[in-house]
Amino acid sequence: MSKLTDAMSEAAAQVEKTMDRLLPKPIDNHSVLFDAMRYSALGGGKRLRPFLVLESSRLFGVAESCALRAAAAVECVHCYSLVHDDLPAMDDDDLRRGRPTTHKRFDEATAILAGDALLTIAFEILSDPDTHADPQVRCNLIAALAKAAGGQGMVGGQMLDMLAENEEFDIGAVTRLQRLKTGELFAFSCMAGAILGRADEPSRHALQAYAHDMGLAFQIADDLLDVEGRPEDLGKAVRKDGGAGKATFVGILGVERAHAQAEMLVEQASQHLEPFGDRAEMLSSVARFVVHRKS
Ligand code: IPE
Ligand code: IPE
Ligand code: MG
Ligand code: MG
Ligand code: MG
Repeated sequence: MSKLTDAMSEAAAQVEKTMDRLLPKPIDNHSVLFDAMRYSALGGGKRLRPFLVLESSRLFGVAESCALRAAAAVECVHCYSLVHDDLPAMDDDDLRRGRPTTHKRFDEATAILAGDALLTIAFEILSDPDTHADPQVRCNLIAALAKAAGGQGMVGGQMLDMLAENEEFDIGAVTRLQRLKTGELFAFSCMAGAILGRADEPSRHALQAYAHDMGLAFQIADDLLDVEGRPEDLGKAVRKDGGAGKATFVGILGVERAHAQAEMLVEQASQHLEPFGDRAEMLSSVARFVVHRKS
């Protein structure tokens, strides 16, 4: 695992630097919005989605400076989704990444607005010529991220997640919920490299299939960690899903079968990478990492 952990820390450091440079800097006492954006986005998180952008970009020889901008953009969207997910109207959480959630550190209005601004800056970053010289490629990236983040992606999944608190969801419905809520941003992260590198259709298919299985495995692990994890490792509260009536794989399959399902998905995810050979070693390892992680 240590080759992977080294690569992940190196990537996280580069992404942190890029985000620090791209996020607006507070200039006076009225810059509370910028403070809240930086508080929500900098200095924490596993930076898994950026890692997927960087590794998928490597497969197609994309310049690192371009990949880092796309990586920063998807992490901004992810951080916004966490800020809003933690709001009292949604999961009502006080702890995130080992620190008070944004609405606790600031206030609810500031958290909503900081989330909004993190979402929109993602598209500003992608639209800049520094992300790719070809405007068509930039447009394709923007369209793909908009779709993954919006009503037919993460936001749609979050809506289903809320509805599921008061309705019975079967395994098919939970799979759809999780694919939207979590899987679509993972899929975008893998496709970003293919879009930037103008990859051919078979490569795109392989990455889509990998992202689909690893995204589901990731969310099963998140649901398992809610039951089995420790807040001091995770930096967020645990044992919340059951009480809130969330529709999770663990709730439907039970702990043991959920573990088995996650393992099966990881195997399957790695098999989809076969066309890339050794070049996809990190992508294969990171799929294993997401189900065995403690945080
Ligand atoms: C947590 O995502 C939210 C879900 C989609 C389940 P991560 O586990 O990737 O959170 P960070 O970015 O490392 O904090
Ligand atoms: C959140 O899922 C997913 C998004 C933010 C899109 P969860 O509600 O399960 O995430 P955690 O457990 O709070 O990190
Ligand atoms: Mg939630
Ligand atoms: Mg939550
Ligand atoms: Mg969770």
